[in-house]
Amino acid sequence: MCGIVGYVGERDSVPILLDSLARLEYRGYDSAGIAVITAQGQLLGSKAEGKLARLAERLAGGEPLHGAIGIGHTRWATHGRPSDSNAHPHLDCKEKIAVVHNGIIENYAALRAELIAQGHVFHSETDTEVLAHLLEHYHEGDLMQALRKTLARVRGAYALGVIAQDEPNRLLFARNGASPLVVGLGEGEIFVASDTPSILKYTRKVVILHEGEIVEVTRQGYQLSNFAGLIVEREPEQVMWDASSAEKTGFKHFMLKEIFEQPNVVKETMLGRIDESDDVQLFAELKLDEGLLRAITKISITGCGTASHAGMVGMYLLRALCRLPVEMELASEFRYGDRAMDPRTLTIAMSQSGETADTIEAVRIALEAGSPVLGISNVIGSHLTRLADGSLLTRGGPEIGVAATKTYLSQSVAMLLFALYLARIRRSAPQETLRELAAGMQLLPAAIDVVLNTSDAIREIAKRIRKAHSMLFVGRYINVPTALEGALKLKEISYIHAEGYAAGEMKHGPIALLDAKVPVIGIMTDGRIREKILSNLCEAKAREAPIVVVANIGDEEAAQVADHVLWVPRVPELLSPLVNVVPLQLLAYHIADIEGKDVDQPRNLAKTVTVE
Ligand code: G6P
Repeated sequence: MCGIVGYVGERDSVPILLDSLARLEYRGYDSAGIAVITAQGQLLGSKAEGKLARLAERLAGGEPLHGAIGIGHTRWATHGRPSDSNAHPHLDCKEKIAVVHNGIIENYAALRAELIAQGHVFHSETDTEVLAHLLEHYHEGDLMQALRKTLARVRGAYALGVIAQDEPNRLLFARNGASPLVVGLGEGEIFVASDTPSILKYTRKVVILHEGEIVEVTRQGYQLSNFAGLIVEREPEQVMWDASSAEKTGFKHFMLKEIFEQPNVVKETMLGRIDESDDVQLFAELKLDEGLLRAITKISITGCGTASHAGMVGMYLLRALCRLPVEMELASEFRYGDRAMDPRTLTIAMSQSGETADTIEAVRIALEAGSPVLGISNVIGSHLTRLADGSLLTRGGPEIGVAATKTYLSQSVAMLLFALYLARIRRSAPQETLRELAAGMQLLPAAIDVVLNTSDAIREIAKRIRKAHSMLFVGRYINVPTALEGALKLKEISYIHAEGYAAGEMKHGPIALLDAKVPVIGIMTDGRIREKILSNLCEAKAREAPIVVVANIGDEEAAQVADHVLWVPRVPELLSPLVNVVPLQLLAYHIADIEGKDVDQPRNLAKTVTVE
């Protein structure tokens, strides 16, 4: 977690570092800080507990800072509470070397004790500070040599950036493990950041660092090498994402903008993947052998958070269309499952960022067991896409709001495409059924648009239920993940307790919670379980719970049982999770917004979780 940035060029680095950090705050916002080398050749820094805005205020007030080379950091606390002293950058004893760091130094305690015994004085509780002191210890005129010696001493997964007063023209960044780093090339200036969108405003020409690499950056260019010192050649790539994709473009929050981008994201993710006969074609990009896919006997899906819910949608789809045993396991639990995996088990790992530590670890375990891995990710060149045997990109574009919305839809579309493709090549479902579903998918953007147009009506419903302390979201079958996702969205951004449940389980426990103050949100769209959900909602209503239903337009029965209806267009049941989740995203958004919550940066969360 945490976001790190660097800049070297002719301009003042401070506004550029602050601007790039603002786009990285989704990675953590417990504190922020920068360090620069001034025109007078002095290493100076400033840092502040809290969001980046506090640091910006401090800089605009009594602590102005300028310099054409600098590094910056926005923090999600792991070692040491959020505070000024634990904020990065961290300095060595002589205050001549500054370090920013994302990830964890696992052996920091032993290193810290060793350095203290040598006389180093520490000022923070962080694991990061050992890096600054180790660099000082090894620095004999060449920062690169000192960095290599330092990296040889530390264990863990991290990305870090360093500047030194004695070598004022260069930045060094290094990556080990799941913490991403990107170098952006401008004209006479170079940017470094934890992700591409944060520097899109400045350049679209980027070089992605791989694990175990160091980059040396000067105004003139960059040089990649591995930790052992061997030079690595890699040409820059041109990023297709638009700079406006990292801007709010008139919306009050990124989350709302991203919810409204969903029709387009669904279109993008399908683009060129369904041919004129409505057959899904993925062979060329998947890079998984068709013979291998025909021979698999089991599928194991994994992911975290929202990605795990999209994985669960995929589980129902693959079971329905491919007639295979399909299991879904949270990535954080994957390793303890004592699961049976072999070369005929296909593992599908879902991760928007492609960097989530638990998901990456699950992938490693699957690969060790000989299971072929398909990665479904939003980021080309991410850790996941590089580890996996084959990848399917979700084309969601950059998502800035911490609560995932459009990437959930794009992951579900990717799962649908894969299930249709697999069913076709395995002949596990009638060709006609598959084509009808693929044709139905083309109508999803319009159906989602219809839901988006009800946003104002959903806001009115939000006003009625926003004071509840707890809510229960229920669905059945392929809309159980929709209920889980609806509950997750609400709790993430409004801090209202919410549970997602399989509706049939309600009477085995959660019904005890119900009274007139606990709204029940039921997903009751057409399909084989509609009537059963209706009965469950009647049971909840009999306990005086306010009832909100997601129902198909024109469903009279739904209107009768419910106090409030979230109307959605009718689509085939297997496609319904992609439409049904949209009013729940909007409901969560409006409740949080009316309640004045920090929608895009909810407390304690971070978008990309690179710690286990
Ligand atoms: C964090 C985010 C979630 C996200 C999850 C998995 O918890 O807050 O929104 O769903 O990580 O992220 P991934 O990048 O692996 O999809």
